[in-house]
Amino acid sequence: MQKTIKVFAPATVANVTCGFDILGFAVDAPGDEVILSLNSTSTVRILEITGDDGQLPLDPLKNTVSVAILHMLKFLNSNQGVDIVLHKRMPLGSGLGSSAASSAAGVVALNHLLDCHLSKRQLVMFAMEGERVACGSAHADNVAPAIFGGFTLIRSSHPLDTLDVISINTPKDLYCSIIHPNIKINTWVARGILNPMIKLTDAVTQWGNVAGLIAGLMSDDYALIARSLTDVIVEPLRAKLIPGFYDIKNAALEAGALGVGISGSGPAIFALSNSQAVATKVVAKMQESAATAQLLSETYVSKINSNGVKIID
Ligand code: HSE
Repeated sequence: MQKTIKVFAPATVANVTCGFDILGFAVDAPGDEVILSLNSTSTVRILEITGDDGQLPLDPLKNTVSVAILHMLKFLNSNQGVDIVLHKRMPLGSGLGSSAASSAAGVVALNHLLDCHLSKRQLVMFAMEGERVACGSAHADNVAPAIFGGFTLIRSSHPLDTLDVISINTPKDLYCSIIHPNIKINTWVARGILNPMIKLTDAVTQWGNVAGLIAGLMSDDYALIARSLTDVIVEPLRAKLIPGFYDIKNAALEAGALGVGISGSGPAIFALSNSQAVATKVVAKMQESAATAQLLSETYVSKINSNGVKIID
């Protein structure tokens, strides 16, 4: 039996503008590295975390990756001991699915180490428990694309046994630009400001856009994707958490982006474009605009990641 495994865990963009809690996709960069080893102590331990400036808990009952692994071991009725090393290479609290990347990597790696052939859907369920610890809500729109790769639709996730994850086609020329302004947004807070009641007319607009986006992705219809990347429910409330959001968004659209949105609960902002050249121009304009709002930022341009968590070693 293999004793140690190293995996790459991709960042993910949840919501994809109009699909709050139900849509997400994975990108090639940035991403974390997670190393898992079997131990003979019957305990799950976090040996080391790098790249987090000491912000993440080493307590296995509080860290998302160990919580996901403990749920998986419980399901397997196993007292297997596991050692975990996390190398965080993406910013925390950024809206890029950092906690989800760790949980997803942990369960995929353990599935491999134990050779237990659990389905991706089952792995998503365990990783969702990590999300529950991270932000109080077991949403799947980061962990599902991190595990499945590509675009995923969470048709249903509550109650958990109704979880239905659907992989959606990625048009081949689609590129993602990401700007991460150097501010922090806590997902608990960003969820807390949302209005639980929405107007029927807004709901109608929103589900038209969700359906349009799915149809656009399935048929490589970039114009339909562009028309559908509109959010009338969540973005108007969360935009105020990101200084200069609408200027950054407009800069991206003027530079040729198909559409723009807050990545997950932010502060990262993503744009989709139909070529690498446009995506590169878009990200430069977004960064320029952020700078005028006095925001320092880091940027990424990436293809959509089709593999999800990947075994490196
Ligand atoms: N769908 C979630 C949200 C993603 O927007 O709150 C955050 O991880």
